[in-house]
Parts: sequence; C-alpha cells; structure tokens
Amino acid sequence: MKQKIAALFHQVHGRAPTFITRAPGRIEFIGNHTDYNGGTVLGASIDRDVWVAVAPRTDGLRRFYSDYSGKVVELSAAVIEKQTGEASWINYPLGVLAALLVFKLQAPQGFDYVAVSDLPTGAGLSSSAAIELASGLAFLALTEQHPDRETLVKIGKHAENHFVGVPCGILDQGVSGFGKKDHLVFIDCKGPHFDTVPLPGSANFWIFNTHTKHALVDGLYAARHRECMEAAKALGVGLLVEATSAQVEAAKTVLSGNAYKRAKHVVDEIARVDEAVAVLKTGELDKVGHLLTASHRSSQHLFENSTPELDFLVDRLAATLNVHGARLTGGGFGGAVMALTSPAFGDAQAQAVAADYAAKFGARPDILHMKTGDGAERV
Ligand code: GLA
Repeated sequence: MKQKIAALFHQVHGRAPTFITRAPGRIEFIGNHTDYNGGTVLGASIDRDVWVAVAPRTDGLRRFYSDYSGKVVELSAAVIEKQTGEASWINYPLGVLAALLVFKLQAPQGFDYVAVSDLPTGAGLSSSAAIELASGLAFLALTEQHPDRETLVKIGKHAENHFVGVPCGILDQGVSGFGKKDHLVFIDCKGPHFDTVPLPGSANFWIFNTHTKHALVDGLYAARHRECMEAAKALGVGLLVEATSAQVEAAKTVLSGNAYKRAKHVVDEIARVDEAVAVLKTGELDKVGHLLTASHRSSQHLFENSTPELDFLVDRLAATLNVHGARLTGGGFGGAVMALTSPAFGDAQAQAVAADYAAKFGARPDILHMKTGDGAERV
C-alpha cells in the first residue's frame, strides 16, 4: 500500500509525498451503545486501513484526492466549509483541520493530499474514524506537532461530532488510535482510559456485510442516544454507567417501557464487557463467544437496533461449527454482523451462510475475513 499511495500521489500531484500515514478500521467486539453512556467497550483494530499521503504547498491551496472519489477538489486554506454531494468525503479531513484549532493546535495551510483505502465503506468498520486519524497524523506531521495519542483520538471524535455531525462516542477513534495486533482495545469511556487486552492468536473475525441500512439510521442513532440520556435522568444518575442493575429493576414500573429496555441493555452490556475481559484472560474463546451472542440478543430485544437480516445471520452463525459467537457490530439498524471463529472456520462455511441468507433475502452479503492489526501510525 505504501508504494501504491506514493505512486498515486505522484500521478495526481506530480511529485512525491512528504509524509504517509495509515489508520485501521475497527470491529466493535462487545459493548453496544455503551460508549456515550460512560461505560466500557472492547474493540479490535483490524488489518484494513485508510492511508493518507501529504506534501506541503506554499500557495495556501489544499488539494484533496481519494481513490474513492477519483477527483481532485481544490479548496482555499482560508475557508473551512462543509462539503456536499461527491465531495462530502472531504468533510472528514476538513473536520480534523477545524478540530486542530479547537484543541489549540496549528492546522497546516496549503497541502496536496491523497487518501486510499482497503477498508470498505458502509460496512460498519469505521472507515470514517480511520480517515480522521490518518488525516490527523498527516496534518500533525506537516506542522511538526506531537500531541499525545489521546489528543489525536479526541480530535477525530470532535471532527465526527461537530463537523460531520454524528453524536458518536469514543469507540471508533479510540480503537483506531490505540489498536495493537493480537490485542483488543479496552476503553473505559468515562475517563476516557485506554488499555489493551491480549487476544489469543487463534481468534479470527468474519464480517458479513448485509448492505442494508435503515433509511433513518442517523436519526435512529441520535434517538437511542436521547433515550439513554432520558433514562439516566429518570434514574437520577448523570450517565447510565452509574446505574446498577438493581436500580433499573426497582424503577421498572416508573420508567417508560422504552427507557427501561434501553437502560437494562446498557447496564447488562457493561457487565458483559467486564466479564469478557475476565474470560479473555483464560483464553476460553467459546465462553467469550457466548457473551457476544448474548450481547446481540440484548441489542435485538432491549435496545432494538437490530434487523431481521442481522438476526438471521446471528442465528445461522451461532448454530455453525467453529463459530464461537456472533453479533451485530456498530450502531445497528442494518450494516454488518461479525463472527468470532476458530481458524477451522473457512470460506466454504462462510459461503454456505451467505447462500442461506441470499435464499431468504434475495441478495448475498459481502464476506470479509480479517485479523487484528496495529493502530494509527506514520509509516
Ligand atoms: C457507532 C458509533 C460508536 C458506538 C457504536 C455503538 O459505531 O460510532 O461510537 O456508539 O455505534 O456501540
């Protein structure tokens, strides 16, 4: 990829890049919608990345190109304006440029820019966090600034929340920033505090991307966010992480039906994350897998962010040999299911799952097999 992006940069901008960076996508391992509730979450940085190459310009122009769009977009460094239509992918690097200033850091003025990726977009693998972090590292290299990793992660999240406009938590950027091969990233989102937990080398990830997306997905994510905050308020706590399971049960009759279900999901899910951390120490991936599938059931019945397509895949996978567990990964309301498998699970089994899905829903899901990879870095 390093050669590929350098060659593309040369082709587009007629010279060599000065800096190249990369940042991985992530799989939400367990901890569904716990991050913005101040809870804990486990994620895996994967061996698929967004790569960014940059070189400074002296004329105050910023020239953006990506293999995704195939077009150069030229913007003056004097204005940072939200882009629409074909150029909207540039909102990720632009959001990072705007966020640098909020964090009292310098944003580079003119530069040439290229992004390439082997991370599919829209598969729930956080290509947005990856482009934010790779861009952030590239901009920091251009300006010779060296803030710590946590600041880089927060800059990415700030770009997503305030420029792109998604009220996400810190999971995606945190995992892309703190990822480590053969490890999971553990985030205690209230701090936030970041840590890594070893993952047995036999752990394999398979992603089944349904390409289905609820028409109102952004609105539904925001709605769940709001319901969680309302449930916390009704329980007399600042964030749901502060509520105990007993408190939620005791308040069952006074909470609205939805508030009770959302709160129960979040409180139970945080307990499952902590249990997964404990079980991972023993290396018993089957037990971890049961927690993953239990997480899905909770998303399905309590948080209600699953779909018939995702449920079908989880049911089918959970009953398949060599699969430890399966669950929806990411925001939900469509998107992808991830399965944690042993190395014995192979392409033939994955294709059989896809064929059964196609027989029911008429279209095949994309299948991606991946392992863990290292977090964002300058290369
Ligand atoms: C999306 C968001 C994350 C997190 C998950 C749900 O991926 O970007 O911050 O809230 O949904 O766990």
